[in-house]
Amino acid sequence: HFCVKSRGAEDANPILINGLKRLEYRGYDSSGICTISDSNKLLIHKTKGKVSELELMISKQSSGSIGIGHTRWATHGAPNNVNAHPHLSNSKKIAIVHNGIIENYRTLKLQLIDKGYTFLSETDSEVLVNLIEEISKKTHSDIETSVRLALREVIGAYGISVISSDEPNKIIVAKNGSPIVIGIGDNEKYISSDATSIAPHVKRVIYLSNSEIATVTATDVIVKSIENVFIPKEIEELSFSIEQIEKGGFPHFMIKEIFEQPESIQNTIRGRIYFENGSGRIQLGGLADYLDRLASAKRFIFCACGTSWHASLVGEYLFEHFTRIPVCVEYASEFRYRNPIIYKDDIVFFISQSGETADTLAALKEAKSKGALTIGICNVVGSSISRETECGVYIHAGPEIGVASTKAFTSQVITLSLIALAIASKRGEISTKLITEYLHELNSIPKKIQNLLSQNSIMQEIAKEFNNASNFLYLGRGFNFPVALEGALKLKEISYIHAEGYPAAELKHGPIALIDEFMPVVFIAIKDSLYPKIISNIEEIKARGGRIIAIASEGDTNIESLAEYVIRVPQIIDFFSPVLTSIPLQLLAYYIAVLRGCDVDQPRNLAKSVTVE
Ligand code: G6P
Repeated sequence: HFCVKSRGAEDANPILINGLKRLEYRGYDSSGICTISDSNKLLIHKTKGKVSELELMISKQSSGSIGIGHTRWATHGAPNNVNAHPHLSNSKKIAIVHNGIIENYRTLKLQLIDKGYTFLSETDSEVLVNLIEEISKKTHSDIETSVRLALREVIGAYGISVISSDEPNKIIVAKNGSPIVIGIGDNEKYISSDATSIAPHVKRVIYLSNSEIATVTATDVIVKSIENVFIPKEIEELSFSIEQIEKGGFPHFMIKEIFEQPESIQNTIRGRIYFENGSGRIQLGGLADYLDRLASAKRFIFCACGTSWHASLVGEYLFEHFTRIPVCVEYASEFRYRNPIIYKDDIVFFISQSGETADTLAALKEAKSKGALTIGICNVVGSSISRETECGVYIHAGPEIGVASTKAFTSQVITLSLIALAIASKRGEISTKLITEYLHELNSIPKKIQNLLSQNSIMQEIAKEFNNASNFLYLGRGFNFPVALEGALKLKEISYIHAEGYPAAELKHGPIALIDEFMPVVFIAIKDSLYPKIISNIEEIKARGGRIIAIASEGDTNIESLAEYVIRVPQIIDFFSPVLTSIPLQLLAYYIAVLRGCDVDQPRNLAKSVTVE
């Protein structure tokens, strides 16, 4: 992920370093910057590890006012100094930072080796910068033309930024698949793959679309298609404030985001729930024109990855419960490659916090090509999935920086609840009286979460007791089965403890063999329609010596005799309960990870947004 600066007088280095620090959640195995000195030389610094290490290397160096920087999540080649970006061409006159994957890089590399080019790194990006150099030499073209011609030979996804010491006042950027946003200041421009890094400098931005290339100078941004046709672009306003992307006194972004949930859910609901003469109504502007089609759908398909896939599973329960229309939930990565059966009258939802996940984006293209209606449920405004879907609903959870997703999950579930209720109401599956009751319940959730978060100290106590465990099981039923999966995922992601989520009844068909006194088992056992069933499952574990942590309803006294630890969640109607029950599990994972000394916001090997397949 990269950021770039093109500016009049000020030094680029500190601006690039601060930008990269804000991007570190997107990739953090190595980083580097390249600036153009006052004597038009490329100055390059790169290193393995965190941006703070890069900062130490360059703090004493002066820099020019134009530069590019990158923080990497390795795809081709191990994370080390050589594979870190930026990459220089053989003449050392052109530098590139690149996100994405050049699929035909091996062929291009062999052709360049034949022409005498040498390569220091194993990356596909170094191939691209030398291809640009070769074209510039062969055709005597300027840097913009050379980049454009080079990209015509490239197969794959990219977001790139290129500088040349021969044309030291400009930066060339291009996009195909990976996001690029250009920030517009007076006599200064900022470019990034993620708007959070340029937000401190600018409010007005241009989002590049696929197959567009821009030449950026301190004063101008000129956008063309890859076929060299000028494209007028709209300037948009950034939709978040600086406070939203700072830690605000919390030790980590993750805990800040967990505690933000009363507010983020309020933001998801805001303007979407109305009461008129005592009757509740839902208004989803992004779907208003499509409600008839949604209400007469034969089938919905939900496509997502990771935590968003878990939110989609909750969505399946919600949609089927309220709308009585069948739902298939698909891992985007599997769906896209199995020549999926998609009918023209299918409606396919793409659920993605970032709106940039490569597999989800590719599944979207597949669904579009088969003629289905596509709907985006994204958090990041202006993201690729939100642009490429026909319509959609933003979850408005605000920027999520912690790699492990928390507030996005709960806002996704709330959004899917609203959509399900809106469809059910349109279909006449639900009375106005019930809708009104449910909407009051949704409105009460932020307060209930506030109440839940105040029991934080119990979670710290449980974390102290269990932080040395090597395995965990998470069990739930019905609407809380996906919560069990999500709880296990949170623990795996940030504490590196092996954890599995299971439907509680399925336990008997295998995982029960794992139970002994070393196996903590987290049950989501609230007082819903399946409560008696899950109590039987708890008994089965207790009888075999397992250690039980229960997420239970307020006022349930029965469960204390069964569980070693009980966490209370406020009473809530069954189908909205995942929004509450998932929160203690987020906290448990967080406190265990902190006690184990793990890097909570930047867990090893993970990336916030996986823009490669
Ligand atoms: C990565 C992140 C997860 C996220 C998943 C899907 O694996 O680490 O936190 O759930 O991608 O991301 P998306 O942005 O599409 O929701």
